[in-house]
Amino acid sequence: MSKQFDVIVIGGGPGGYIAAIRAAQLGFNVACIDEWKNAKGGPALGGTCTNVGCIPSKALLQSSEHFDHASHHFAEHGIAVKGLELDVAKMLARKDNVVKQNNDGIVYLFKKNKVTFFHGRGSFAAAKDGLYDIKVAGAAEETISGKHVIVATGSSARALPGAPFDEENILSNDGALRIAAVPKKLGLIGSGVIGLEMGSVWRRLGAEVTVLEGLPTFLGAVDQQIAKEAKKAFDKQGLKIALGVKVGEVKSSKKGVTVAYTDAKGEAQTLDVDKLIISIGRVANTEGLNPEAVGLKLDERGAVVVDDECKTNLPHVWAVGDVVRGPMLAHKAEEEGVAVAERIAGQHGHVNFNTIPWVIYTNPEIAWVGQTEEQLKAAGRAYKAGTFPFMANGRARALGDTTGMVKMLADAATDEILGVHIVGPMASELIAECVVAMEFRASSEDIARICHAHPSLSEATKEAALAVDKRTLNF
Ligand code: FAD
Ligand code: NAI
Repeated sequence: MSKQFDVIVIGGGPGGYIAAIRAAQLGFNVACIDEWKNAKGGPALGGTCTNVGCIPSKALLQSSEHFDHASHHFAEHGIAVKGLELDVAKMLARKDNVVKQNNDGIVYLFKKNKVTFFHGRGSFAAAKDGLYDIKVAGAAEETISGKHVIVATGSSARALPGAPFDEENILSNDGALRIAAVPKKLGLIGSGVIGLEMGSVWRRLGAEVTVLEGLPTFLGAVDQQIAKEAKKAFDKQGLKIALGVKVGEVKSSKKGVTVAYTDAKGEAQTLDVDKLIISIGRVANTEGLNPEAVGLKLDERGAVVVDDECKTNLPHVWAVGDVVRGPMLAHKAEEEGVAVAERIAGQHGHVNFNTIPWVIYTNPEIAWVGQTEEQLKAAGRAYKAGTFPFMANGRARALGDTTGMVKMLADAATDEILGVHIVGPMASELIAECVVAMEFRASSEDIARICHAHPSLSEATKEAALAVDKRTLNF
């Protein structure tokens, strides 16, 4: 008789491990299957986010920012640094240690919440008698069965046709996070979130970085006033971004990589680099899940088809996170994981897609929630806009980090906040207040009337709210 569970979660990334913990908190007997292996072949819970995504990229962004500050900005504070040296191996080892702390943290959380962990690949084997049989192929092979299944198998980097990842010269996000020595020349294809974050890391460490982007617009999904401000800052830093290019043949040799492309004017160009990072989006992980065994429906891109509540076409089978529609963000995956566990328990789990924040952890940081000015115009919605520059914020001046602004958009008639867009210092933290405000359906006047600590960057949010009513106090 196979081991039987109330809930089986396939995938131990932020969608899966959080769903498993929440289901266990609600009293279910829960199993979580994850196949990720660390360098020693052992389990490494946390998925893409912990192993080759959010966490290691933020560790390297922090280290490289320290180096950039020591190289270029300490002097203006009267601090002279002589003989500054970079130890890339140590930087990468620190990053690996940060990852391991997060992997170990999830093992602890599973023990604390009595989630049974299986290390190996999970795949559908059969559906019978109201139960799903899931095969676990790890060091040994066994089949477990469960009443509910939550698919949380995540996503992987999309390869450029004709340029498969070798993780030596042509790198996915995985290889991009463990380049052993700073390349003299680094190329990236795709100026999306990974392109900008990883391009920033290696530029700060001294690489000459060129990003080739297919679309003619920079950060098309971002409010264009904010995107333009960010682009100006990246140009100043020396991050070369070529928009509207058409990438052709990619040739890799021992010497490096040559990319043939057509630029925005239609002229043929070549880019010679030591390493090339491909960051052109991600694809759902459903290979090896054996969905055919139970008739689980996938869409034409291989993602699991779900409704608004993360229900698949099969009874008691759910799917969350990167493997389904919607933004590929760790916090979106977590919210869906919690909501599904609560729905299984008969509660009313809820995810508000209008208030999922986005953050790009470059310098300046870019963060937003809600609708952009372009989206409001396209929808014909009457709105008021208020902006406030960090240049006029006392804390930003003290930090020596005055690039950017906060921009608030509110309904012209009701004053309800419809979107907030920030480019500047600590935008990732500032956006949280705006998410709370939008969840509570606050007006811009609500933010304008709330007391914000002085001197703090958050005063720029309050001033942007005042600007909606054309009454800023400090600008
Ligand atoms: P994943 O994290 O991909 O986890 C899926 C897990 O399932 C993996 O461990 C995988 O091995 C396992 N698995 C797959 N198939 C099977 C199977 N058949 N059996 C067993 N196990 C299986 N998002 C943010 O919100 N903020 C960020 O700062 C951020 N930075 C990022 C930086 C990079 C470089 C990348 C690549 C992504 C980043 N993301 C970020 C996106 C974020 O990592 C994903 O949105 C998030 O990891 C999705 O969570 P998930 O649980 O759906 O899937
Ligand atoms: P992305 O979707 O953010 O950007 C891909 C870019 O590549 C786009 O600008 C697209 O126009 C371009 N592109 C696509 N095909 C191309 C081609 N053939 N030639 C040239 N350009 C091409 O995808 P990315 O950067 O790979 O990241 C994947 C996802 O991971 C993100 O969308 C995001 O959901 C998540 N992520 C989130 C982070 C965060 O929250 N801070 C950090 C990193 C990743």
